[in-house]
Amino acid sequence: VNVVARPDAALCATLAALQAEAYAGGAAPAYQAASIAALAAAAGGVLVVDDPARPDAFALGRVAADEGEVLALAVRPAVRRRGAGAGALAALEAALSAGGAGTVFLEVAEGNDAARALYARAGYAVAGRRRGYYPSKAAVSRADDALVMVKRLC
Ligand SMILES: CC(C)(COP(=O)(O)OP(=O)(O)OC[C@H]1O[C@@H](n2cnc3c(N)ncnc32)[C@H](O)[C@@H]1OP(=O)(O)O)[C@@H](O)C(=O)NCCC(=O)NCCS
Repeated sequence: VNVVARPDAALCATLAALQAEAYAGGAAPAYQAASIAALAAAAGGVLVVDDPARPDAFALGRVAADEGEVLALAVRPAVRRRGAGAGALAALEAALSAGGAGTVFLEVAEGNDAARALYARAGYAVAGRRRGYYPSKAAVSRADDALVMVKRLC
C-alpha cells in the first residue's frame, strides 16, 4: 500500500470510478475525481492506494491537529474479503498517526454491515449518530443515518 501525496488526474479518475463501483450498493455518495485530487493534496490530506498502477483499493483521510478522519474506503467488489480493505485502513491510520492524529473518526451508514464489521474488527467503537447524514439518493439499505465511530491510535 502506497501513500500518494499528489495523485495525477488519471489516477484520480481511476479512483473515482473504483469508488463509484465499490459504493454502488449505496454505501455512501462517491467523490468526483477532482474532489479526490483536492482532498489528497490539501494540508493534512492522506491518500493510500494498494497499487497506483492498477488500483483495487484505496483509502482517503485527513488530519487536523490531533484528530484524523476517514473520508473514504473502497475496495473493488471482485477482490473483497482478501484483506485489501483492512490493509488500506491500517496504512491510512499509520499515515494519519504520522501526521499527528491520536484519534481517528469516521461516519458509516448504519445499514453498511460489511464496513461496520471491518471497522469494529479494526478497533473502532460507535461514539454517536448523525441523523439523516446521507442523502436519500444514496439508497442506503436500512437507514440514512450515519454512525460515528472512533478509534484511539495511541
Ligand atoms: C467495506 C469494504 C471496504 C471491505 O473491504 P474488504 O477488502 O472486503 O475487507 P477485508 O477483506 O479487509 O475484511 C476485513 C474484515 O472486515 C470484516 N468484513 C469485511 N467485509 C465483510 C462482510 N461483507 N460481511 C461481514 N464482515 C465483513 C470481516 O471481519 C473481515 O475479516 P475476514 O474476511 O477475515 O472475516 C468493502 O466491502 C467496500 O468497498 N464496500 C463498499 C464501500 C464502503 O462501504 N466503504 C466504507 C464506507 S464508510
